[in-house]
Amino acid sequence: MDYKKLISDLIEEVLNINVYDSIEIPPDSNMGDFAFPCFKLAKELRKSPQSIAEDLKSKLSHESISKIEVVGAYLNFFIDKSKFSRDILFKVLKGKSQYGYSNYGENKTIIVEYSSPNIAKPFHIGHLFTTVVGNALYRIHKSQGYNVVGINYLGDWGTQFGKLIYAYKRWVNLDELEKNPISELFRIYVKFHDEVDKDPSLEDEGRKYFKMLEEGDEECRNLWKKFRDLSLCEFEKLYKVLGVKFDSYDGEAFFSDKIEDVVNEIDSKGLLVESLGARVVKLDDYNMPPCIIKKADGATIYATRDITAAIYRKKKYDFYKNIYVVGNPQALHFKQVFKTLELMGNDWAKDCVHVGFGLVKFKDKKLSSRKGEVILLEELLNMSIEKIKTVIDEKNPNLKNKEEVSQKVGIGAIVFNYLKMNRERDIIFDFDEVLSFEGETGPYVQYTFARAKSILRKSGVDIENLEFLKYLELLVDTNEISLIRVLGDFNNQIKSSIKFLEPSIITRYVIEVSKNFNKFYNSNNILNLNDENLKIARLILVYATTIVIKNALYLIGIETVDEM
Ligand code: ARG
Repeated sequence: MDYKKLISDLIEEVLNINVYDSIEIPPDSNMGDFAFPCFKLAKELRKSPQSIAEDLKSKLSHESISKIEVVGAYLNFFIDKSKFSRDILFKVLKGKSQYGYSNYGENKTIIVEYSSPNIAKPFHIGHLFTTVVGNALYRIHKSQGYNVVGINYLGDWGTQFGKLIYAYKRWVNLDELEKNPISELFRIYVKFHDEVDKDPSLEDEGRKYFKMLEEGDEECRNLWKKFRDLSLCEFEKLYKVLGVKFDSYDGEAFFSDKIEDVVNEIDSKGLLVESLGARVVKLDDYNMPPCIIKKADGATIYATRDITAAIYRKKKYDFYKNIYVVGNPQALHFKQVFKTLELMGNDWAKDCVHVGFGLVKFKDKKLSSRKGEVILLEELLNMSIEKIKTVIDEKNPNLKNKEEVSQKVGIGAIVFNYLKMNRERDIIFDFDEVLSFEGETGPYVQYTFARAKSILRKSGVDIENLEFLKYLELLVDTNEISLIRVLGDFNNQIKSSIKFLEPSIITRYVIEVSKNFNKFYNSNNILNLNDENLKIARLILVYATTIVIKNALYLIGIETVDEM
């Protein structure tokens, strides 16, 4: 049963107002299981919050509600405990891997564009941020029945490819290219820029080759394709490790032959003006610098490709929302693009959303002394995996699949840290903290899960195939109820992470589940009980917790391990 709905229905019967979204879960269960802040209605009803609360209290009753209390402006509801436990656990145990899921988003298409690294350039720590945020938003939406399209909008077009072709023809080392394709491509690209300082005419060479590429010159096309294939192959390795998938790799190049039509359309709507030789859409009225559509040399740029891509996506997918997971430094770019789309008369421009995120910094001196751009992701992940392995060697030296466990927990720790805080905030990687088994970390949650699994193994009870119903009402102790309450809140948390496009809501939720589980585990006997029925009831709660932790971690892109 959805108690929030029950309470909001009861209130609606009296007041004729839907208050579902205002119903809260009090931080402390002594204050009730649910609460309704009456001050939200004071203005509308022209009554003091206290008198609204008193009035509601006298009019509400239901067999599943054992008590209603007025505390200040709050109306606190106490649910009949055994009924409550039974209802929630019943849903968890029936739902299993689908618990928390719904079809709330049915028939709506959500585009999540994420990762979008640049060809021939290193995949940097900022790209890992968009990759993990995007992957989480992808899975979170999918869990609620949305039709989700994951797009990797590769940075595979632009004048830099002319430079790269020139640099390749002059300086590439083929052995290196084979061993370490992205580093070698990046090396010759950097070299090009060093050489330009000495001989500025090289810029013209770069432009010339890009023009040839745009005009379809075969050699240039083949080289471009080679750079793209080599880079993608490297990126794929990382995606595989992270369990990240895309439905489309239509990047910037895909739109290169579709741009001209869009430029003409912008022009025909009278939006294009000449400015210092370039052609731009003026956005002064909206307090923004102009959106450049064509450069002085006639080349189209980043913004034009984005406008073209958005129009294409609307036609192809008829999206309900088109989400761009891209760092905060590009916030203005997206505002300009969305505004231009709107001025062109696309009312769906309002459905395009930029989901930004902060910068990534390191506490570790060795890492922070190097430029972010160059920190190789592999290095970051390997460091994490190695450190976790050391801890496991100490804690559980006889563990069988140590490699696999360290990999999952090590990578999970990094992903968890990226998704722990509001995404807009800068994050600081402090390895000691990120990898700690205590505190609000990935390893802490994973360890909690493994501990729960180990209790289930030791019990010898075939918990998954048990007639569980009759045991559920035995769970009435405070720690049990607190844990069950949190387990019951999963779907609400998912919905709110969709509302705010904020995966950290799930991350914090899974921390909350773990904390409550550990409290229950530390203060209640489970395996050493004489009362066989209570023991089974508690094991059922342990099992339900493993279901919820696993499902929640899955939504943020983290795999669990049964033992560690
Ligand atoms: N490739 C770009 C970069 O690495 C990010 C692309 C963002 N997406 C977009 N539609 N512009 O900075």
